[in-house]
Amino acid sequence: MTVTIVGSQLGDEGKGGVVDLYGDAADVVARYQGGDNAGHTVVHDGTKYKLSLVPSGAVRGKVGVLGNGCVINPKTLFDEIDTLRERGLEPDVRVAERAHVILPYHRTLDGIEEAEKDDLAAGTTKRGIGPTYEDKAGRRGVRVGDLLDPDALRDRLEYVVPQKKALAENVFGTETGEEFDIDHLYETYREYGERLADEGMTVDCGRFLQERIDAGENVMLEGAQGTSIDIDHGIYPYVTSSNPTAGGASVGTGLGPTVIGQGEVVGIVKAYLSRVGTGPLPTELGGVEGQTPDYDANEGAGEDEEELATYIRDEGGEYGTVTGRPRRVGWLDMPMLRHAARANGFTGLAINHIDVLADLDEVKVGHSYEFDGTEILTMPPTTEAWGRCEATFTSFDGWPDVDWTTVAEDGYDAIPENARTYLEYVAEELDAPIYAVGVGPGREETVVVENPYE
Ligand code: IMP
Repeated sequence: MTVTIVGSQLGDEGKGGVVDLYGDAADVVARYQGGDNAGHTVVHDGTKYKLSLVPSGAVRGKVGVLGNGCVINPKTLFDEIDTLRERGLEPDVRVAERAHVILPYHRTLDGIEEAEKDDLAAGTTKRGIGPTYEDKAGRRGVRVGDLLDPDALRDRLEYVVPQKKALAENVFGTETGEEFDIDHLYETYREYGERLADEGMTVDCGRFLQERIDAGENVMLEGAQGTSIDIDHGIYPYVTSSNPTAGGASVGTGLGPTVIGQGEVVGIVKAYLSRVGTGPLPTELGGVEGQTPDYDANEGAGEDEEELATYIRDEGGEYGTVTGRPRRVGWLDMPMLRHAARANGFTGLAINHIDVLADLDEVKVGHSYEFDGTEILTMPPTTEAWGRCEATFTSFDGWPDVDWTTVAEDGYDAIPENARTYLEYVAEELDAPIYAVGVGPGREETVVVENPYE
């Protein structure tokens, strides 16, 4: 069977911990979209591994698959594999031949476009994700399978590179270097292809996964990012360029939608909101310069609100892992979650980080929006309309800070009562049962109510 793990908000919901937890029962862990824009930390035998492309299950002896819906930076892939090998692990990673390859010019163009877009910039990770998906849709991309076929690789590069070079130089007026040089790219990427072939890493993803399922194995489909930054269902244009939603699990692996539908789809919810990047955020607390729209005009959100935002940010460690940049934070946004529950068809929920909200007098939730004088319960389809929505809040009594490790051992009923009231409100509104509750950052700090593989 399959279990699909989907972020229900804006990414960074703590999917890694849940993948890790349920992944024990999986034989294969496959990613179906995104690339090295997804940072996750895995702790194994007391050692921390920071991965952005290799599925975390590969650290634990599972087969890790990067599906056709992913975009692959071979340098990142091999750097991560080499680091794991240096630490004595033997990760078994397979890559779909249909997946698209991130080339150095994609990264360069990502940076150039972000600078050019100004207010429309999504605050991307500058890993070349968007430009690579653009070339995929434009039928001018280079796929993993092309790296194994030097003639095909040469043909593809000779067609596309002059266009990219002209774009960088003539449209954006920048100087270009070896990242736009056909011979250099050909040699470098042909070598990556040789290594992929030598190590037997490439697969026909859908067939590979279906054979494992037919043999009775458990497959986990690991979504990166989150529903509200999905290219179709998210807050366009402040989105990533792929489909983190559950439908992406089918298209991005080659498994049929009925196969995914016979399994479980678990929505990962963070008990509050955090956001890296720009665009509106109706339940935002305070603001972050450079990310919150009209930050300067809105300065003076109130000292209390800023203080609360800083408290949640510090307790939740809501700072960029690489840059240390503060993330925007806010109260839970129920219209966003109702939208996610419908778009993904959640069969269960894992709600994380309730420990972060402990010790507050009251915990608020954006229950609905007021939109042009009407109450609405779900997100409007355009981001401009979403920016006009004002959250209507419901308030819950706070819960105490307790020994969360003991709570995780003792089970659901050991969670403080007010926190359970909060959790049950969310489950009821989304019409999906609670499968797990994250009460701390560690893998063992999770209350498991239901294991979807059992
Ligand atoms: P890109 O995926 O690098 O193109 O970035 C597009 C948008 O998605 C930006 O707003 C990023 O901050 C956001 N984003 C991309 N990956 C992640 C992630 O793993 N967590 C949270 N936000 C992300």
